[in-house]
Amino acid sequence: MPEINLLRALPHIKRNIQKRSDAKDASVVTIAKKFGEMYFDGPREYGYGGYRYDGRWRPVARDVIVHFGLKAGMRVLDVGCAKGFLVKDLMQECPGLETFGVDISDYAIMHCEPESVGRLHLGTAERLPFPDASFDVVLSINTIHNLDRQGCIRALQEMSRIVRKPAQCFVQVDAFRSDDEKTLFESWCLTAVTYLRPAEWISLFREADYRGDYYWTILES
Ligand SMILES: C[S@@+](CC[C@H](N)C(=O)[O-])C[C@H]1O[C@@H](n2cnc3c(N)ncnc32)[C@H](O)[C@@H]1O
Repeated sequence: MPEINLLRALPHIKRNIQKRSDAKDASVVTIAKKFGEMYFDGPREYGYGGYRYDGRWRPVARDVIVHFGLKAGMRVLDVGCAKGFLVKDLMQECPGLETFGVDISDYAIMHCEPESVGRLHLGTAERLPFPDASFDVVLSINTIHNLDRQGCIRALQEMSRIVRKPAQCFVQVDAFRSDDEKTLFESWCLTAVTYLRPAEWISLFREADYRGDYYWTILES
């Protein structure tokens, strides 16, 4: 089944959407889009408000392992890995798994988890610095929607290029199902450029010939 909620084990995050919306202006958005210290570890108005490891990705890692049948020796890439939390947790949950990450943020990579040191590469999802068919599974969570439509297509094509079997991918992207959800999302979002209804994403996936699994990040009131 291509649509699957692999992040179902993450705790529900309480967001103060009004506070974010009140603080948001062009300068806040410009700073957030640098994906630097302010975005990860600055005040909540600029992004995460402190992106710290707390183990919440461990059950997600377990679900990813079961879903893709991951085993020691297999190679997994997380595109938009940030500080490498999932990279670390996949290796801890499946000893011997060879897990790597790529991210556009040198700040995130320079502040990664000790277990992920040397496994995270600086680069963009649009041009992944890896050979064809070099990974068993490629994931990208809440990342490619930071690119424009053509960038999303290129990123999905890159994921398909570097994975051995095109179905062994997972992507999660920002989406909305109604005008209310779109308004709510626009009040909150700082960095997303492409956010669509699920059916529109599915048609973009087809355009990119993306054959992996997918799911949506949808803000609900
Ligand atoms: C919302 S965070 C998600 C981080 C992590 N995947 C997670 O779910 O916690 C978005 C991540 O995408 C990275 N990013 C943004 N644009 C990117 C690009 N063009 N290529 C690779 N990474 C990118 C950011 O630096 C950031 O780490």
